[in-house]
Amino acid sequence: MKRRASDNDGVIIQLRGVKRIYQVGVDQIHALDGVDLEIRENEYIAVMGHSGSGKSTLMNVLGCLDRPTEGSYKFGGDDVTEMEDSELAGIRNERIGFVFQSFELLPQMNAIKNVEIPLLYSRSGWLGRAAKAKKSLQRVGLADRMTHRPNQLSGGEKQRVAIARALVCEPDVLLADEPTGNLDSKTTKSIMELFDQLHQQGQTIIIVTHEEDVARHARRIIRMVDGRIYSDMSIEQDRAANSSSSAKSKEI
Ligand SMILES: Nc1ncnc2c1ncn2[C@@H]1O[C@H](COP(=O)(O)OP(=O)(O)OP(=O)(O)O)[C@@H](O)[C@H]1O
Ligand SMILES: [Mg+2]
Repeated sequence: MKRRASDNDGVIIQLRGVKRIYQVGVDQIHALDGVDLEIRENEYIAVMGHSGSGKSTLMNVLGCLDRPTEGSYKFGGDDVTEMEDSELAGIRNERIGFVFQSFELLPQMNAIKNVEIPLLYSRSGWLGRAAKAKKSLQRVGLADRMTHRPNQLSGGEKQRVAIARALVCEPDVLLADEPTGNLDSKTTKSIMELFDQLHQQGQTIIIVTHEEDVARHARRIIRMVDGRIYSDMSIEQDRAANSSSSAKSKEI
């Protein structure tokens, strides 16, 4: 039985004063410059902002692919900033699913083998790996493409395989960094319908996007500027705020 990630208030993720500073030669780049954030179970969040505003840096920190330079990060009440690398790898593998713009599938492996990869590193994964991978592929609507390799799949199908791989360990949080960035508008719509479905099934989802239409699927929109959260609102509040200042909203 998997441990519940959230505390009693349903909070899964809590960031306090998080900074990520890159040192490049003599320059310091404040990619995250003091981020406070709470994310609860079954939230559906879109993160928006200009190129370079820190969205991917935030996702990498949330996904435990990177550590904050300063501040605290609690995942399910546990302080991630204090953890050993191996403990962090465990969280990354079993409790967080990550989807990337460029799919990141292994070209020589078919869909089932790609989806099995996280199970190779997971304690719970040894039993019935192929069965779990198949179930995950069915969940994303790819029952009839299981033995196809990535070059035998369309862009949308590749992203579905990547989503199945992200879901196979039943993560507490699904993170997606511009998952529709390489897809045409029709395929984008079908991938977003899949995210909507997963949210309805209880999945917590955080998605980075440049497209307002994509962000409108979420229930909460976080807008970033220069490594900080500029606004953090429900979809309804965000829509009202941006319809009264539509020129400004287009910039952020
Ligand atoms: N490894 C790194 N070393 C140094 N600077 C970095 C590194 N990664 C990111 N940065 C810088 O940190 C800032 C935030 O980058 P980040 O990739 O988070 O932006 P982003 O909002 O995801 O942009 P985009 O919309 O283009 O994907 C940028 O100024 C970027 O140049
Ligand atoms: Mg980015």
